[in-house]
Amino acid sequence: MMNDIMENEQLSTEEVQPLALKNDLLLRAARGEQVERPPVWLMRQAGRILPQYRELRGKLSGFKELVETPELACEVTIQPVDELGVDAAIIFSDILVVPEVMGLRYEMIPGKGPMFPMTIQLEEDVDKLIAGEKAALQLDYVYKAIQLTKAELNGRVPLIGFCGAPWTLMAYMIEGSGSKTFSKARRFLYKKPISSHVLLQKITDTTVDYLKGQIKAGADLVQVFDSWAGILSPEQYKVFGLPYLKQICESITEVPVTVFAKNAWFALDELGKLDCNVIGIDWNTTAQNAREMVGTTKALQGNLDPCLLYAPEDVICSATHKMVRDFGDKYIANLGHGVYPDTPLDNVKIFVDAVKSFGA
Ligand code: CP3
Repeated sequence: MMNDIMENEQLSTEEVQPLALKNDLLLRAARGEQVERPPVWLMRQAGRILPQYRELRGKLSGFKELVETPELACEVTIQPVDELGVDAAIIFSDILVVPEVMGLRYEMIPGKGPMFPMTIQLEEDVDKLIAGEKAALQLDYVYKAIQLTKAELNGRVPLIGFCGAPWTLMAYMIEGSGSKTFSKARRFLYKKPISSHVLLQKITDTTVDYLKGQIKAGADLVQVFDSWAGILSPEQYKVFGLPYLKQICESITEVPVTVFAKNAWFALDELGKLDCNVIGIDWNTTAQNAREMVGTTKALQGNLDPCLLYAPEDVICSATHKMVRDFGDKYIANLGHGVYPDTPLDNVKIFVDAVKSFGA
């Protein structure tokens, strides 16, 4: 299948011609337009919830082989569109590909998560990092995966590109792995604020070029994941988080932008002022509170507790319908964070179908 595309020479490193989308609900909702029903997709929809993914993954050397082989990344990106009937695909990759091309290689340890053999400890470590176009050019395998996926989707649904927010990437680059407190990374902000800003700016410059590369390859919308926004104090988030998100939002003018700052309910008013189209909401905030703080111009995306998908069918349906009702207009249905890998697939389908049948 993929080989046919390659042989047909539909792909080149040139810009892909825009294909008319058969389902553009996501893009219309992101732009705040009236839609027949809210679009629905799930963060982490491509992955271990799907038996097709687990089967393919089992045959490979590891996660990185999947991410770095465009044909494989394309295949797993489309699996949830086929299996779940979601209104968007999100390119299969990871936020940690950016630190890698800046000079910090990551490993994905089965059962544990990401690990960086080298981390940022000193100011000199920051100075050594590669940034901007030079780094972003090395992510050619992501751009190729996007081109392939766009061709293979053939306009069925929009394709979402993504990146990690500068603060979230900085947290991994200093900590070297996941952490409950990210106290090494937060310590760095207090002890080395100037170096922190140099690092955040380098990540921002790389990220802007990276997102532009994804858009040029065919991404229809891009989402910035600030997964660790909520561990900063409101004051720190104003200094080390928001200004860099602002730069990214102002640099991306080609497609709609979604900013998902997890647990940053304290900053929703500031996030509402960013030059982006959609704000992602987690389950610690009510729809009403989010709408009041963000204001009326942007679309909101979220926010079902991923654990609700372990509940009985009627509970999933009524909670999903309540969520859709509570958010009202300018809304994209999703969970409040990524779907957990052991969620029963049938329950994920119940959630998707509950959104699609809303009001019908
Ligand atoms: O379907 C999709 O959403 C697209 C794929 C995607 C992955 N990672 C694949 C993945 C996306 C959007 C991400 C983003 C990502 N990666 C974030 C931001 C979103 C969030 O969850 O807050 C973060 C913080 C990471 C870093 C990361 N990658 C962690 C902490 C882990 C380990 C935890 C886990 O879920 O296993 C990963 C691994 C990872 N990224 C997997 C997948 C499918 C599992 C790897 C496997 O198959 O073994």
